[in-house]
Amino acid sequence: MSFPIPEPFVWDDSFKVFYENLDEEHKGLFKAIFECAKTPDNAGALAHLIKVVGEHFADEESMMTKANFADLATHKQVHEEFLGKIKGLSTPLSDDTVKFAKEWLVTHIKGTDFKYKEKL
Ligand SMILES: [Fe+2]
Ligand SMILES: [Fe+2]
Repeated sequence: MSFPIPEPFVWDDSFKVFYENLDEEHKGLFKAIFECAKTPDNAGALAHLIKVVGEHFADEESMMTKANFADLATHKQVHEEFLGKIKGLSTPLSDDTVKFAKEWLVTHIKGTDFKYKEKL
C-alpha cells in the first residue's frame, strides 16, 4: 500500500481516526517529524520525536487493550519495531531516514491505525 506523503509534512483530515485524543497525538507526530526534517542535526528534536511516539503508542495500545481489539498483538509489534528503529538513530539524520519516518507514519496511520476505526 502506498499513500501520498503530505508536503509540507502536516496532518490533514484524511488522517482522521475519529478518536480526538489519537488524532491530536497523530498531529503531534507529524509536527515532531516535521521538526526533525527541518533541523536534522537537532538532537532535541529527535529526542522529542522518540518521546511522543512512545507516548502515542502506549495510549493507542491501551485503548486497543480495553476494547479487546483483535489485531492488538500484530499492531503492537509494528509499533515496537518502529520505536526500536528511531531509538537507535542519532543526529544528524540522513534524508533517507527522514523520508523513511515520513512514509512510515503515513502508511501506518492509513494502513494500520485505520483498522481500529469505530472499534475502540
Ligand atoms: Fe498504531
Ligand atoms: Fe497511531
